[in-house]
Amino acid sequence: MNVNIAIEDRIAVLTVTRPKALNALNKDVMSELHQFFTTDINSHDIMGVIITGDGKKAFVAGADISEFMSMKPGENVDSKDVHAVFNAIENCHLPVIAAVNGYALGGGCELAMACHIRVASKNALFGMPEVNLGIIPGYGGTQRLVQLIGKGKALELMMTTDMINADEAYRLGLTNHVVEIGEEIGKAKEILNKIAKKAPLAVSKVIDSVNAYFDKTRNGYQTEIDNFAFLATTEDFKEGAGAFLEKRKATFKGN
Ligand code: CAA
Repeated sequence: MNVNIAIEDRIAVLTVTRPKALNALNKDVMSELHQFFTTDINSHDIMGVIITGDGKKAFVAGADISEFMSMKPGENVDSKDVHAVFNAIENCHLPVIAAVNGYALGGGCELAMACHIRVASKNALFGMPEVNLGIIPGYGGTQRLVQLIGKGKALELMMTTDMINADEAYRLGLTNHVVEIGEEIGKAKEILNKIAKKAPLAVSKVIDSVNAYFDKTRNGYQTEIDNFAFLATTEDFKEGAGAFLEKRKATFKGN
């Protein structure tokens, strides 16, 4: 097992557990993340997911460089499979939060960026060191970093490979929150517990509508119109609107 899965209070905490390699992403980590986000997620009664790294030093220090080096020319050098995993995270119908507890470099920063929300501990360091290795961020980083922090700063970080600390990441919009070391999972759970009180279908359609904005094959406004029309037919909408008018708390069932 390279990704430990712990479920408590309807939240799944996925911990990348390769501390000796600073939780670098190898093929096994990728296939376990893929298995969870495409299949296993549906067999658990959960409302959200947290992704973190084992230990106090690293969230994920990137793709496993030693695995890269052992590849033969032409062998699986494209990053399509990883894109499929990170796209599954980004398009997950449940909210996914990265609890960034140290280095988030290269593929680690890209994994955090595929999540919907990021919470960083004070010692977190974000960076895109790929050009040091003669490659580019290949797990969605050239696209998602621009989306989160804008073109100029994204280009600078990717070309200089400068690492930025949690406060700078917060200032740029790369992390949503900065917390004391060790409090990142607690903060992520606090956010998920807040979301858990909302209508689940509406939450999933917020994710879908926002993602449509960045997907060049979709029309974001049309997606919003369609999702809005769909939600207006749901029991949860009747319950939410009814509860407001009756001045009581809504109880959503996700239908
Ligand atoms: N892959 C494989 N092993 C890694 C690793 C990685 N990305 N990052 C760290 N490790 C291993 C080290 O080799 C070392 O192993 P040994 O103890 O067996 O020597 C162990 O983790 C601890 O690392 P360091 O001794 O280097 O620790 P440090 O505190 O001196 O430095 C660090 C920490 C600055 C994060 C440094 O480890 C580092 O620069 N790591 C590489 C970061 C990187 O370049 N990431 C991008 C990878 S490419 C990528 O992600 C591609 C992509 O977008 C598609």
